[in-house]
Amino acid sequence: MNANQLTWHDVKITKKDRQQLNGHRSAVLWLTGLSGSGKSTLAVEVEKKLYEKGLRTYVLDGDNIRHGLNNNLGFSPEDRKENIRRIGEVSKLFVDAGIITLASFISPYRDDRQMVREWFNDKEFIEVYVKCDLIICEQRDPKGLYQRARKGEIKEFTGIDAPYEVPEKAEIIIETGKLTIEESVQEILQYLKTHKYIY
Ligand code: PPS
Repeated sequence: MNANQLTWHDVKITKKDRQQLNGHRSAVLWLTGLSGSGKSTLAVEVEKKLYEKGLRTYVLDGDNIRHGLNNNLGFSPEDRKENIRRIGEVSKLFVDAGIITLASFISPYRDDRQMVREWFNDKEFIEVYVKCDLIICEQRDPKGLYQRARKGEIKEFTGIDAPYEVPEKAEIIIETGKLTIEESVQEILQYLKTHKYIY
């Protein structure tokens, strides 16, 4: 289908209206990092804290989204790009709905993360680099995937035989090899407070 066959329909309730009703700004916290770095754990814990403060939140998680919306995608660079494109679009809808969205995806390519960043207004996209040395991720290996990748049973595994491009301008860097989960959660909450996303 050609885009010039389509017409955009305006709505009467805007993002600003929805944010006012919710009583807070909306944004996406985009957690990027190696498998086993702690992205999902952090997203879940931060969401819990925000929910307890009465804020409207939603977690989009790589493993979960790949069970449904993106179950036709693998781990080639093209498929990862499409994965991130779709999640970027979904995140945009959630942010438009007034929700603080936590997107937790390896998202290993800088260009893909930059592509999504550019779809958001200033301050709506918060890149969180969940930094953890490969050696620690591999020791944690919560799903046994690194072990399988080392044996050659899983191909194109990030950090083993597929790249991870380190963020150069992340708004937040969380070193999960050095901080406890609670300290990591507090750093993210502190950022949100300092930048007036939450009070
Ligand atoms: S990506 O790179 O952003 O498209 O990946 P994502 O959608 O976040 O999915 C990552 C989870 O898929 C599992 N898995 C793999 N990860 C990396 N490389 C390969 N080849 C792979 N195969 C399966 C793994 O459980 C990832 O989850 P996390 O939570 O990151 O450990």
